[in-house]
Amino acid sequence: MSHEVSAAPPVALHRPLPSLRSAAITGLGLYVPEKVLTNTDLEKLVDTNDEWIRSRTGIAERRIAADDEWTADLAEKAARAALEDARVSPTDVQLVIVATCTPDFQFPATAALLQHRLGCTAAAFDLEAACSGFVYGLIVAQQFIATGAVDTALVVGAEVMSRILDWNDRNTCVLFGDGAGAAVVQAAPQGYGITGIDLGANGAGGDLLKVEIAPQAAEAAVGAPPARRVFQNGKEVYRFAVNVMGESAVRAAQNASLDPSQVDLLVPHQANIRIIESAAKRMNLPMDRVFVNVHKYGNTSAASIPIALCEARDEGRLKHDDNVVIVGFGAGLTWAAAAMKWHSPDED
Ligand code: UT7
Repeated sequence: MSHEVSAAPPVALHRPLPSLRSAAITGLGLYVPEKVLTNTDLEKLVDTNDEWIRSRTGIAERRIAADDEWTADLAEKAARAALEDARVSPTDVQLVIVATCTPDFQFPATAALLQHRLGCTAAAFDLEAACSGFVYGLIVAQQFIATGAVDTALVVGAEVMSRILDWNDRNTCVLFGDGAGAAVVQAAPQGYGITGIDLGANGAGGDLLKVEIAPQAAEAAVGAPPARRVFQNGKEVYRFAVNVMGESAVRAAQNASLDPSQVDLLVPHQANIRIIESAAKRMNLPMDRVFVNVHKYGNTSAASIPIALCEARDEGRLKHDDNVVIVGFGAGLTWAAAAMKWHSPDED
C-alpha cells in the first residue's frame, strides 16, 4: 500500500511577505566533530558497502561526536564562530533559537543552555521541525526582526544524530552524521535578506520517519530498556522529498518575485545527492548553481543547511546581490524554503 504524502496541503504558509523591516543573515559559523566515519568503516558494522552508499546517497563519510561532546557543545562552537563573523557581541543577542531533534535534555531547551554559555540574556527556545528546523527557525527570527521586536537573533541548527541511530540498521545508520551550523540574523537594508518564504507540514506522513518515545516508555515500565532509535521508510520519504524540495524552493523564489532560473545559488538540505539533483532539475538550475557537501557530512538534519551556507560563503559562492534559495524537508513531514537577496555587510 502506498503512503504517498502530499507536499501541498490546503493550508501552507507561502504568501508573499508584507513589506516590513528586512532581515538578513549577517554572520555564519559551523562546527563538525573531528572523528570521521567513512563508508569503509561502516562496512565493519553492517552489511553495506562503499559503492552502495555512494551511488544511492552521494555520501562518502560523516562526522561523529566524541563521547563527551553533546548538542550544546557543537552549538556553542558554531554560534561563537557566527557571532565573531558578524562582529556581534553575545550580549547584543536578544533571541536564541536552536533547531534540533537531538536536544541534550527533554528540558531545559538546548537554546537555554547555549544562552547561558554565551553569557547573554536573550529569550531562548528550541524548535523541532527535524531537518527543516533551521529554515523554520530562520523564518521565525525574521518575523521577530520584521516587527521590530528584536534587532539581533541567533539561529543554530545542531545535531548529534549518532546518539539516536540504530547502529545495526543499515537502512538508517549510513545516512546521518553530527554537526552544527549557526547564523546571526539582523535588520538589513530594504530589499535585502529574506525576500520570500514557503513553510509547510503534513502530519499524515508522521509515521514515515520517527523516533518513538511513548511505546518505549511503556516497555520501560515493564522492564525492557528504552530504545529511542530512528525509524525510516526510506522509499516513501524519498518519494515525498523529490517532490517537495523542488516545489517548495520554486514557491519561495516566486514569492520573492523571482523566476527559479534567476537563482544564483541553491543551498538545499544535504540528505541525498539524487534528491538534490531532482530539486535542481525542477528549478531548471545547472548543478554548478547548487551547493553540495553531502559527501563530507551525510545528513546532519537541522545542521545541514547552515553548515552548507557557511561553507558556500567561505568558498566565495555567496556574493552581495546574489539570489540565494535555501530549502529543506524532514520528519513531520515538514518542509521549508527561504529566498534571500544576499547582503554582504562589507557593502554598507
Ligand atoms: O532528512 C530526511 C531524511 N531522509 C531521507 O532523505 C531519506 C530518503 N530516502 C533515501 O534517500 C533512499 O530511499 C535511501 C538512500 C534510504 C535508500 O535508497 P533506495 O534507492 O530507495 O534503496 P531501497 O530502499 O529501495 O533499497 C534497495 C536495496 C534493498 O535491498 P532489496 O530489498 O532490494 O534486496 C535494501 O535492503 O538496498 C538495500 N539496502 C542496502 N544495501 C546496502 C538498504 N540499505 C542498504 C545499505 N547497504 N546501507
